[in-house]
Amino acid sequence: MHFQKLAINERAAAVNRNLERAVNAWVRGRDLFRSRIGLRGRAAAYDDLHYEFLGGPSDELRRKHYDKSLRLLWKAQGALPWSTFRDQSAQERRAALVELDALAERALNEEERELRERITSREFRDLLDREYTARQKEAVVAILTAIGHGEAYAWLVSASLLPHVQSTGARAALTMQVLEEAKHFVVMRELVLAFGIQPPRQSAWEYLLLEGTLKSKGLDRFFGMNILVESIALSIFGGLSTLPGLEVLRLFHLDESRHTALPANYFKEFPMSARQRSSARSRLRRLGMALPTLPLIMLLEPDLAELGIDAFDFAGSVMRKVTHLSLRAGFLNEREAARQNRLFNEAFNAYCRLTRPDHERRDFMSAETTAGRAELAVEREVFGAH
Ligand SMILES: [Fe+2]
Ligand SMILES: [Fe+2]
Repeated sequence: MHFQKLAINERAAAVNRNLERAVNAWVRGRDLFRSRIGLRGRAAAYDDLHYEFLGGPSDELRRKHYDKSLRLLWKAQGALPWSTFRDQSAQERRAALVELDALAERALNEEERELRERITSREFRDLLDREYTARQKEAVVAILTAIGHGEAYAWLVSASLLPHVQSTGARAALTMQVLEEAKHFVVMRELVLAFGIQPPRQSAWEYLLLEGTLKSKGLDRFFGMNILVESIALSIFGGLSTLPGLEVLRLFHLDESRHTALPANYFKEFPMSARQRSSARSRLRRLGMALPTLPLIMLLEPDLAELGIDAFDFAGSVMRKVTHLSLRAGFLNEREAARQNRLFNEAFNAYCRLTRPDHERRDFMSAETTAGRAELAVEREVFGAH
């Protein structure tokens, strides 16, 4: 390549270089000094000398979360052709139809595929009317809205966590979660509205659970959101995804399972201090965050029952996953985890003795309300044998 090199004023160039060096030393020195005396220094946790965020590259976290999320990124138009979403390219539309076959665990023939692709919102509503009674629709909407409000907070919480995680890989991972929670919120909203029933407000328990999580300190939000709320979400999606018209929940389920694994993967690279992990105060804070879960499930009991799901099988299924994830992330040790599971089981049985005339003691903690084969396989991967 031949360039016609232009003449420059060497003196001016030298002055500019020296001026920059002096200002650079001053701004960085000032910010370093300010942060050392407890004032706000550099705002970005960014290390421009190494072209990385503070904490380093964390390629493993990037691979496990960011890369995987992109690989599994799904578009609403493919899963809900009747919705208002137009987020697929023509090529993606063709590919998605084949993938949907695999997800639905059955092969559609060409004609069925076309039918599926053409399904309009009117036809989708007709399908809901055919498949569900008014009371059943109300139950589905109540349960889905409870987690729909959770998706709004998941979006807020994951975005608010961005300044609190270290490394390039962890930020890339969390950014994908922000994107997926945004999608979950807007897609869930449209799905719920298709039922034609006014979605209920947040219950007081959801309000306390979600506000408590959003207001909690730094990485405690990982516990409140990725472990607690996501386990509830995962279990709801796993319990409802085999119902007619709700097949898209399998895709939500897949995303949430990845989100629940993030704290353990993150703390493996950036361990919590002993104080953060197990001081009496942090435990009490986490317990306080978790407490509204139980009355929330009790409140949902009539709606779950309407769909044939025992609220305490559901609660056992959720809390076993919460305990497992807390153990993996280092919030609990083996002994505490076993004690926590026993305690929940006692509490559930005590409540059932009070409210169910023929109650016989059961091990609710070994119950599994996730129904789909694909969903159970995904959970086995995240939770191991449980
Ligand atoms: Fe979500
Ligand atoms: Fe999530």
